[in-house]
Amino acid sequence: MIFTVAIDGPAAAGKGTIARAVADAFGFVHLDTGTLYRAVGLKAAETGLDAVDVAKALTATDLDRDDLRTPIAAQSASRVAVIPEVRDALLQFQRDFARRTGGAVLDGRDIGTVICPNADVKLYVTASDAVRAERRYQELAAKGMDVTLETVAKDLAVRDARDAARQAAPMVAADDALLLDTTKLSIDAAVAKAVAHIKTRIEQGRV
Ligand code: C5P
Repeated sequence: MIFTVAIDGPAAAGKGTIARAVADAFGFVHLDTGTLYRAVGLKAAETGLDAVDVAKALTATDLDRDDLRTPIAAQSASRVAVIPEVRDALLQFQRDFARRTGGAVLDGRDIGTVICPNADVKLYVTASDAVRAERRYQELAAKGMDVTLETVAKDLAVRDARDAARQAAPMVAADDALLLDTTKLSIDAAVAKAVAHIKTRIEQGRV
């Protein structure tokens, strides 16, 4: 069975949490596509190598580093993500992943619009700026990172603006995506909505 769930939306809206829960619920494989851009951004910044060359030669080891969730990695990611050739270099890997037998869920910014425009299910997950900043602040602080709510909020605002304004695959909801605003939802409630929507799609015989 090939079944693709595309989950997009701004940083810290809950995409990753929902994507992992959906993967668990249906036994799908999951790809956090932000990891690819974070790995390229960090490696390019550290080595001075051209980001396009880094993206073309990305290795499993690059994706396995334990500092990919830092604010520096996030900013580096969004800087290299504006480069069309970087996106092109990462495209086929994501498309192949989406078509893995047994079902796949990918989360990012352009999954439903560019990577998998024919995905079986598309979700666009959002939340208010304040709630997203608070969630990301709590996540980073819990990992012992030296951050403040203000710097986290600014980091998100800068990235959102860059991700939405870029020419290549900007962050935007696909026309046929279900909008899921998690501002006032618990994790369980948000996951339940996503799972129910996917179940309906499966029952509609789109597999
Ligand atoms: O999802 P995450 O916050 O880890 O993504 C980091 C950055 O990578 C985003 O701010 C965005 O610039 C870029 N990205 C992207 N397209 C994706 C996933 C992430 O441009 N599909």
